[in-house]
Amino acid sequence: MNPKWWKESVVYQIYPISFKDASGDGIGDLRGVTSKLDYLKDLGVDVIWLCPIYKSPNHDNGYDISDYCDIQPEYGTMEDFDRLLREAHSRGMKIMMDLVLNHTSNEHPWFIESKSSEDNPKRDYYIWRKGKNGGPPNNWESYFSGSVWEYDSTTDSYYLHLYAKQQPDLNWDNQAVVDELHDMIHWWLKKGVDGFRFDAIAHIVKAQGLPDADNPNRLPTVRAYQLFSNLDKVHTLLQNLHDQVLFHYDIMTVGETSGLGPHQALDYVGDTRRELNMVFQFEHMYLDAESPGSGKWNIKPWNLLELKKVMSEWQTVLHNQGWNANYLENHDQPRSVSRFGNDLNYRVESAKMLATFLLTLEGTPYIFQGQEIGMTNPSFASIEDYRDVETLNFYHDMREKGMPEESIMKAIRKKSRDNARTPMQWDNSENAGFSKAQPWINVNSNYMEVNVAAAQKDPNSIYNYYKELIALRKKYKVIVYGEYKLLLPLDPEIYAYTRTCEDERLLVILNFFDKQPVFEWPREINPEGAKLLISNYKPSSNENVNKLTLRPYESRVYLLDS
Ligand code: NOJ
Repeated sequence: MNPKWWKESVVYQIYPISFKDASGDGIGDLRGVTSKLDYLKDLGVDVIWLCPIYKSPNHDNGYDISDYCDIQPEYGTMEDFDRLLREAHSRGMKIMMDLVLNHTSNEHPWFIESKSSEDNPKRDYYIWRKGKNGGPPNNWESYFSGSVWEYDSTTDSYYLHLYAKQQPDLNWDNQAVVDELHDMIHWWLKKGVDGFRFDAIAHIVKAQGLPDADNPNRLPTVRAYQLFSNLDKVHTLLQNLHDQVLFHYDIMTVGETSGLGPHQALDYVGDTRRELNMVFQFEHMYLDAESPGSGKWNIKPWNLLELKKVMSEWQTVLHNQGWNANYLENHDQPRSVSRFGNDLNYRVESAKMLATFLLTLEGTPYIFQGQEIGMTNPSFASIEDYRDVETLNFYHDMREKGMPEESIMKAIRKKSRDNARTPMQWDNSENAGFSKAQPWINVNSNYMEVNVAAAQKDPNSIYNYYKELIALRKKYKVIVYGEYKLLLPLDPEIYAYTRTCEDERLLVILNFFDKQPVFEWPREINPEGAKLLISNYKPSSNENVNKLTLRPYESRVYLLDS
């Protein structure tokens, strides 16, 4: 089993700009987070993943850092951070920082120096190249639309940015950069932080020579993910980081690694690798996109058989070899109840079903702020309501390419990252209790009904269901460590599996849709003595356990006679 505290922890992700505004300027802040620690403790949270709070011009809400060792003034001061850390620790909770090592802000002093001249000592901190044939050095496309190259006239050169042009990529081939980053990470660890989520870590190494990607359709730019994702040298760099820095502390680490399957993930998280504890994979996030290569905006309906296949592979391949990080939503993804559930007719039932799924898989569960009350996509009316740089770039790019406004908005309403970034809904007062001032982005209009205060009062709320599930996870080792086995792989509506560990065994039954399929109790499992641990419906008195007619989005977790 190889028990570890970070395997047994429940993580809650905070996107500070939208969590709680204590200063009254419409922007969430650190004092706001501190004021909600009791709420998180009560929910059962062990670790807080704090999205970036470093000094930043905020072109990408903090993922563009201009000073790694200072706090974004709108979020507060270093004293506020120290207090948050102390207060979290005093409640037995840990804080995991979100660290962006692939790039900095273009306002970082390193970049300002780097761009000032070709012989500046910091020139090679970033990736500079001369243009080719009157254009950029290669044809790679940025994650946020357009070329990865931005021209800078100071030295008549281009710098590389995989994300926004305000986020130049660091050059990890330069040992001076690596040393600076190691020192900075040490600095945070000495302060007592409990771990890191390493942003975009899969991309810190680019293919030698920065070659053009294949371009059969002769497009101006092409998605070249394979040329800057999960390349071998990433592992060498992570092993060095581990051995020289991380290893000396009892912390948890999770890497953001798009573009890999579970076998490749073992290179990062395999028990013997000395790299990371776990990674965020993206395969389930691409099930509603035409193909990973065509980008997320090209939407198709997702399908349960594919979801089962992806999740089951991750569950089985990593078992006893590494460890999973499980999530259904975060600050980059739509709200899970709007995406995998039904936010129209079965918001409560389907959010609870998804919670059951998230919290009964093997791996550390990550809950994104608001998920515990079933917050939904806001479906904003117009592009004016959106703030996210990726969304706005996509909108302008597609308008230029002649795509009709309504088709663009349809994709944005489903997939924009702002879906998850609307202010946390604390109560039914103005601005949902998030702030006294007009928030930086509109509050979801359903806040009168969907909010923490209402959820806490209602014993049948999604919030109370999460609380119960988290408590069960702490009570039964099998929920954390049990081996996963998929049942009914071909059933298009029911997702069911068992988890087995020493003398404990669990059966999880999830109806993923609004129909009423029949679950036939597996022959090898004895229903006598099966104890219902939790369900989002009350069992009816006359039900036939052998042939269970599931209600829409019904979920059940049984502890079985072993
Ligand atoms: C992934 C982060 O989660 C996302 O929010 C950010 O825009 C990019 N990395 C770039 O840092």
